[in-house]
Amino acid sequence: MTSKIKFVQSLMKTAALANVPKHIDHFSKFSPSPLSMKQFLDFVNLFRSQGSTNACERTSFVFLRQELPVRLSNIMKEINLLPDRLLATTSVQLLQSWYIQSLIEILEFLDKNPEDQRVLEMFVEVLEGIRNRHNEVVPTMAQGIIEYKDAFGQQDAVTDHNIQYFLDRFYTSRISIRMLINQHTLVFNGNTNPAHPNTIGCIDSMCDVTEVARDAYESAKLLCEQYYLGAPELELRQMNSNNNKEPIHISYIPSHLYHILFELFKNAMRATIENHEASRTLPPIKVMVALGGEDLSIKMSDRGNGVPFRKTERLFSYMYSTAPRPSIGDKHRAPLAGFGYGLPISRLYARYFQGDLQLYSMEGHGTDAVIHLKLHRLSTAKVIYAQQMICHEAF
Ligand SMILES: Nc1ncnc2c1ncn2[C@@H]1O[C@H](COP(=O)(O)OP(=O)(O)OP(=O)(O)O)[C@@H](O)[C@H]1O
Ligand SMILES: [Mg+2]
Repeated sequence: MTSKIKFVQSLMKTAALANVPKHIDHFSKFSPSPLSMKQFLDFVNLFRSQGSTNACERTSFVFLRQELPVRLSNIMKEINLLPDRLLATTSVQLLQSWYIQSLIEILEFLDKNPEDQRVLEMFVEVLEGIRNRHNEVVPTMAQGIIEYKDAFGQQDAVTDHNIQYFLDRFYTSRISIRMLINQHTLVFNGNTNPAHPNTIGCIDSMCDVTEVARDAYESAKLLCEQYYLGAPELELRQMNSNNNKEPIHISYIPSHLYHILFELFKNAMRATIENHEASRTLPPIKVMVALGGEDLSIKMSDRGNGVPFRKTERLFSYMYSTAPRPSIGDKHRAPLAGFGYGLPISRLYARYFQGDLQLYSMEGHGTDAVIHLKLHRLSTAKVIYAQQMICHEAF
């Protein structure tokens, strides 16, 4: 028996002793409270305007010790609805053990005094531990699905559809939980970042969009050069509705935007190179950033020959990839493509604050990927949080 399985089994015993199933039943009866970008920004402003941060920290602590168990329990209920044979894979067992452990750790704080500074400090430490524990959730769930499909073959269309539906909700839930944890730990861990005075937690109220695009391009280029010994150039333009040349700033989470752009650049680079092997020059990747009154849009255009219209939606399926499958354990070499998670997860990030990601492809020519983000200084839009309903469809 591997040590991984032993660990999971001993944790399951602890979970039973700690009455975890009862807690999951209790907390999953509550709907998560979606937070809008405006609420996040209001909190940031409140935090900035207060001389002492203690009141903010207490409020955030009291909110999170209830909200995190609600969100964890809701998604754990959904995991339990997965097909038995998928639940039984080592990867999904391990993943469940992380969720149980994290839930147990937060529940410890339910009866703690918010006025006690040591409690608040411990809470930050525990949240940091939880964040690290869950770092590998995406590849671990991906590995579970691979194990399941390898063992039991191609599934019917309904099961595939249900798994796609579950994964969208599962990863959205993860994004939202991490957003809450990051916001609390980064704001209240006592370290300020003088290099980014407009950043509070993970939100930058002056996020420089073209700078994030250039950073994402450079990282993708490095990776691309490792594989293909070259990379297409970047042509970046911006259009401000005021028609001025001012840099475009928005209130956003730079790490989310970076994630989306990095995935799109990797795809555009791969398509460009694989379709210009015979030619001596590579057509550049063109990026246009446009700021309007309501939306910020980013269009990335490549000349990588595109994909047939019929296949466009399929590109957003988890595990759909035309690249060879990379080995998950290989930590030395990050793959340029191959898991089929780049597009679907990027679209979840874009949708998280009511934006979207769309692909328009012209087979024989190239692909335009367009990111639409809502401008939140005007919007009171709610975070899309597809958690209100538990997935009742039986697999
Ligand atoms: N710009 C593009 N031009 C042509 N095909 C594309 C483009 N972007 C994506 N695709 C196709 O869509 C598939 C899925 O893309 P996705 O980014 O989700 O996964 P991937 O790149 O294969 O792997 P990874 O999870 O590492 O990103 C790709 O394998 C490729 O076939
Ligand atoms: Mg990709």
